[in-house]
Amino acid sequence: MQILKTVEELRTWSRARRCESASGEGIALVPTMGALHTGHASLIRGAAEARPGRVAVSIFVNPTQFGPQEDFATYPRTFDADCALAGREGATTIFAPGVEEMYPAGAATLVDVEGLGDRLDGASRPGHFRGVATVVAKLLIAAEPDLAFFGQKDAAQVAVLRRMVGDLRLGTKIVVCPIVREADGLALSSRNAYLSSEERRQALVLSRAIRRVETLVGGGERSSDSLITAARAVFAEEPTVWIDYVELVNWDTLLPVSAARPGTLLAVAAWVGSTRLIDNAIIG
Ligand code: PAJ
Repeated sequence: MQILKTVEELRTWSRARRCESASGEGIALVPTMGALHTGHASLIRGAAEARPGRVAVSIFVNPTQFGPQEDFATYPRTFDADCALAGREGATTIFAPGVEEMYPAGAATLVDVEGLGDRLDGASRPGHFRGVATVVAKLLIAAEPDLAFFGQKDAAQVAVLRRMVGDLRLGTKIVVCPIVREADGLALSSRNAYLSSEERRQALVLSRAIRRVETLVGGGERSSDSLITAARAVFAEEPTVWIDYVELVNWDTLLPVSAARPGTLLAVAAWVGSTRLIDNAIIG
């Protein structure tokens, strides 16, 4: 496994891959914050299928997307295991920069996706999507990938990044991979490691609420008010779980819709103990 630490090394590696390809095909990039699990693995596998032998996984716990009271300092860091997992799934290269490489002293440039960046997670985590958009812009500008792989697990993040890539004409295609879940429905997340066994059980309420809405939609219910009320009723089964949001929104604009239709995003976020979890579904 090749480990690159600087933007210049990443750019040089990526350009060399494009040059050696007869058709000018470039690399695939999978941006992550490490603590890799089966969800990340599915993205890396997808990237390796699309661009065999030319897949970079970035591992960078990005300080600018964490609020002052959030878990930046304690975020799980499992670099050696991450490199092994990424290699098994077909990554050829790890990009693991230090903070000063991504944010040189005096850096003053931030990427704000207005209108989307303060919706959903952006409403409860002010500045979060500015941090995400800024670091992903830096990664895409450095790596110049043809394809960048993201998980539907972070559906609002996908909306923000799609808009950013379009607005800035970055030329990378965003590929969105389905949510990987545990057998009992819990969406895989690096933060699941924070849950006690009792919280792990309580956390199932997120996927249960989503399934309830999907069942109601399957039965013909379309009204957002009714569907959100039904989801909240499921959350009420776990009174210690604190809802951050339950929303039905347009996946492009992240604005609420009055009726669910195919492509509508059902998104939930909730605190289970001191861990904030998110989950979602796209209405079929
Ligand atoms: P991170 O939380 O490490 O996630 C990296 C990628 O893995 C994201 O695109 C995320 O949606 C995807 N992912 C996480 N859990 C998943 C699951 N259960 N199923 C499918 N995909 C899953 O998201 C970030 O990092 C950061 O915000 C980042 C984009 C790297 C910018 O710092």
